[in-house]
Amino acid sequence: MAVRLSHRELDLPKIEIGRLLEIAAEHKEIISLGPGEPDFNMPDPLIEHVKKIANKCNHYSPPGGRHEFKEAIIKKLKKDNRIKAKPENIVVTCGSQEALLIASACTMDAGDEMLIPDPSFFAYLPTIELFNAAPIFVPVKEEEGFALNPDEVEKRIVPGKTKVLLINSPCNPTGTVLKKDILEELADIAVEHDLYIFSDEAYEKIIFDDAKHVSIGSLNGMENNAVSFFSFSKTHAMCGFRLGFCVCNQKLADAITKSHIYTTICAPTISQKLGTKALSLPSIHTNKMVSQYQRRVRFMLTRLNEMGLYCVEPKGAFYCFPNIQSVTKDSKKFAYDLLKKAKVAVVPGVDFGTNGEGHIRCSCATDIKLIEKAMDKLELYLKKVKKRRLR
Ligand SMILES: Cc1ncc(COP(=O)(O)O)c(C=O)c1O
Repeated sequence: MAVRLSHRELDLPKIEIGRLLEIAAEHKEIISLGPGEPDFNMPDPLIEHVKKIANKCNHYSPPGGRHEFKEAIIKKLKKDNRIKAKPENIVVTCGSQEALLIASACTMDAGDEMLIPDPSFFAYLPTIELFNAAPIFVPVKEEEGFALNPDEVEKRIVPGKTKVLLINSPCNPTGTVLKKDILEELADIAVEHDLYIFSDEAYEKIIFDDAKHVSIGSLNGMENNAVSFFSFSKTHAMCGFRLGFCVCNQKLADAITKSHIYTTICAPTISQKLGTKALSLPSIHTNKMVSQYQRRVRFMLTRLNEMGLYCVEPKGAFYCFPNIQSVTKDSKKFAYDLLKKAKVAVVPGVDFGTNGEGHIRCSCATDIKLIEKAMDKLELYLKKVKKRRLR
C-alpha cells in the first residue's frame, strides 16, 4: 500500500530539536544544552510514594481527574496562584500539552485565529494547525526583554476571527516573566474583544531573584476568559508521569473533559496519586532545584555576555536565549556547525518562530560542570570562527 498521510500532518513544521537531541544522545562526547526537562530526579518522598502505590493503580480514574487530587489542586491554586476554582473548573490531563491541545480543539473552528508570541514554545503552532485554525504571530522584541507588547496584540485582533491569545510566562525559550501591569492590559484586551487567554504556566515556580509569577487567571474579570495550564513536569521533575491540568470556566471545562475522554480517557491513575502527594510536600524540594537553575543560568549568562553573545537576562524557566547575529543570522547552520566542530548541542532559535532566528536556546537543565565545559568550547569555537572570517 502507498503510505498516505493527511495534508494536515504533512503541513506540520519540521523542527531541528528532535534530530539534534538524537545526535547528541548517540555521541557521548557531545555536551547537550538541548534538554527541555529537568536533569534532577523527582524528590525522594515521591520516589518512596510511587513504590507504595504501584500495585493499587490498575484502574481508570474519573476522566476529569480524581476527587482528592482536584481538592489538592484547588488548595494549590488558591495559595500559589490566587485563582478561585471548584472541582468543575478543573480538568486533569496527560501533561499540560494534552490540555493545550484539547482546549484548542474545544475553542477553535477551522479558519479561526489564535495569537501566539514569536518566538515561543514550538508545540503551540502545531496545536493550532492540527485543527485547521490559523496561528497569528505577535513578535516579541529583544529590546523589550522579549515581553509581549499589548499594542502589538491588539493590532492583530480581527473581530469574529480571533478567538484566543496564548501567553507563556515564565517563557520557554526566552526566560521572560510577564509583569503584572502587562498582564492587566492583556486581560482588559481579552474582555474588550471577547477572547480567551490561554496561559501556559508550566514554569510557574522556576522564578529568579525579584521576579514574581502572576497568574492572569487571578486578575479581576478573568473568570470566564482565562484558561490556565499547569504542569508537574518542571516543578516536581515528573515529566515521565505525564501529568498536568487546566482550570477555566465550567462550560469549557466540561467540553475539555468530554474530548479528553475520546483521546486518553484519563490521566494515569498512578500519576494522579503521585500528584496529590507532590502537592502535599513542602516547597523546599522545588526550591532546591530552582536555586540550582538560578546558579546555572547566572553563570551561563555571564559567560555568554563575556564572549560577546548578548543575552536578555532570563527571569525564570531554565534557558538562555543568546543573540548570535555577530556570527551569523542562520541559527540552524550555527547549531549544526557548533555540534560538528565543538561537540556542543544547542537548539536553533528559528525552531521557536521566525523571530527567534539569529538566536540559539541553551538549556541549563544540565550539570554546572558540563555547562562550564560547554561554555569553554563555545568560546573557543567563536574565536576560531572569527579568525576564519579575518583570513
Ligand atoms: C512552555 C511549555 N509548555 C508546556 C510544556 C509541556 O509540558 P507537559 O510535560 O506538562 O506536557 C512544555 C514542555 O517542555 C513547555 O516548555
